[in-house]
Amino acid sequence: MCGIVGFTGRRQAAPILLDGLEKLEYRGYDSAGIAVSSADKDGQPVIEVVKAKGRLKVLREMTDEGRFVPGVCGIGHTRWATHGEPSVLNAHPHYAKDKRVALVHNGIIENYQSIRERLLSEGYEIESATDTEVAAHLLDKYYKGDPIEAISRLVFRVRGSYALGILFRDRPGEIYAVRKDSPLIVGRSEEGSFIASDAPAILRYTRDVCFIPDLEIVRLTADEIHFYNVDQEEVEETFSRIEWDSKAAEKGGFAHFMLKEIYEQPKAVRDTVNPRIQDGRVVIGELGMSDEEIARISRIQMTACGSAYHVCMTAKYMIEQTARIPVDVDLASEFRYRDPVLADHTLVIVISQSGETADSLAALREAKKRGCRVLGIVNVVGSSIAREADSVFYTWAGPEIAVATTKAYSTQLAAVYLLAIAFGKARGLIDRTKEEEMVEELLRLPDKIERVLEEKEKIQRLANQFSNSRDIFFIGRGLDYASSLEGSLKLKEISYIHSEAYAAGELKHGTISLIEDGILVVGVSTQSELFEKLVSNMVEVKSRGARVLGVTSYGNYGIENVDDYTIYVPKTWECFSASLVVIPLQLFAYYVALAKGLDVDKPRNLAKSVTVE
Ligand code: AGP
Repeated sequence: MCGIVGFTGRRQAAPILLDGLEKLEYRGYDSAGIAVSSADKDGQPVIEVVKAKGRLKVLREMTDEGRFVPGVCGIGHTRWATHGEPSVLNAHPHYAKDKRVALVHNGIIENYQSIRERLLSEGYEIESATDTEVAAHLLDKYYKGDPIEAISRLVFRVRGSYALGILFRDRPGEIYAVRKDSPLIVGRSEEGSFIASDAPAILRYTRDVCFIPDLEIVRLTADEIHFYNVDQEEVEETFSRIEWDSKAAEKGGFAHFMLKEIYEQPKAVRDTVNPRIQDGRVVIGELGMSDEEIARISRIQMTACGSAYHVCMTAKYMIEQTARIPVDVDLASEFRYRDPVLADHTLVIVISQSGETADSLAALREAKKRGCRVLGIVNVVGSSIAREADSVFYTWAGPEIAVATTKAYSTQLAAVYLLAIAFGKARGLIDRTKEEEMVEELLRLPDKIERVLEEKEKIQRLANQFSNSRDIFFIGRGLDYASSLEGSLKLKEISYIHSEAYAAGELKHGTISLIEDGILVVGVSTQSELFEKLVSNMVEVKSRGARVLGVTSYGNYGIENVDDYTIYVPKTWECFSASLVVIPLQLFAYYVALAKGLDVDKPRNLAKSVTVE
């Protein structure tokens, strides 16, 4: 996600824009820029654009805190790259030739490639790698003097999620805005009118705001704000008063970034999956491998750290089931030193949210040294792993601030599902019907995640009940074992409670000696063929005094004959179940840490990205 701010009023705009962007840096910080309506030496209206790569302070210094940029109407942007790596060229605002139109964008335009090709064929010169510049040229093409009409046409043409702040050169003093799925608010005060991705950007100036409804176009002047539907009819909207303090507002009203990011998972998964689905089929253009090359893959070697490693574990089950390609999984810190034997046609997949984890980067380099093709699954565009991999599959989770990963993890799972389907298809193991059925279910996952999030009160009560535990165990079989590992890590890293995850069948080979009265064991069970086995493992621990929390899919009601507490998640294809069972495990860990009064977003001893060995 990115940060957008705009102001038109009776004060110099640039300092207000920079101040607002400062409050939105948590939304993106790899580059920033502003565009301000101004006039040239002949008094003709112009749009002045200033952009800088890096943190916002670079732009502040370039513009002397905005003082160098005259004008009382402008838009600003701080970027989290999704299309096109961090650079001045890719930074927003983007504009069409001779800056008739300039705009800033938060979101993902899913059909930008086809629009780009069409514009290039019509002679437009598009320089950056961004979907946003395409939107700027398309709007320029549509603009014949009526901004509302041009924006309406744009809305009908583009697909995806967007929040747009727009300037038209021949409309000095006016800002236009429109959104679909990405947040955007308008604010008003004695000094003028504002747009912002999020309240913190403008709280200093006004608390009188309106959350723009999807697909409504807004026209702002210093004294008025007008709303229009896509049929260009003016509509009335009500304003409300924001009561949050600025710190709370940065988290969108959530108590912690972690909780906010847990709740952002449906959108993050949607943003990662949808652009890779065309007419019901999986299309992963960035994979850069033909079906023949995929068919020749003899083995997949996956490597990562922490939660990303748990995604690799999940991927093993998923890819072997779906594409029948043998998958090996290694911790990157082990892989990099074990002088691995990598046969010909081994594809190495490195998963990393930050793209900067030292062990994972070193593992990538070891693989490349051995002549292997490396695919990165990365969340930070332009990061080291993204740059050094032969091809990169970006997860579009947006910036993840909390140390404990949640939404990035979920988007990595989604990436693996898409890859497994693409591999299975390329190897002739998934026909069109099955592909369409799997895609249909994939597209339903975000709604099913939403449904699990509705269980939060029940999960919080359970967390409060066990927040003073000394040890908590997680067990699972197959895919559920990988989910157990993730649930255990989430709990450990933010609540500091000792926890272990075990392949349920392995428990009796030693660790069951640790089970005693009152110890909580979380049994994760979504794989029908292993359900009875898991239940018997739950009986084993229960007979030794454990309290058992079952996490399973609706319909597996037999679990209540054994467990003490049950959390159900919606049914889905069992190969996708990890995306649903991880939600209660994330919430459980969060509420335990909350009950203990700990710093959920910044747990002790941990860093968001481990860039050292
Ligand atoms: C997970 O909650 C932790 N923050 C940690 O295990 C993390 O997954 C690991 O350090 C890998 O980070 P990366 O995905 O940025 O490479």
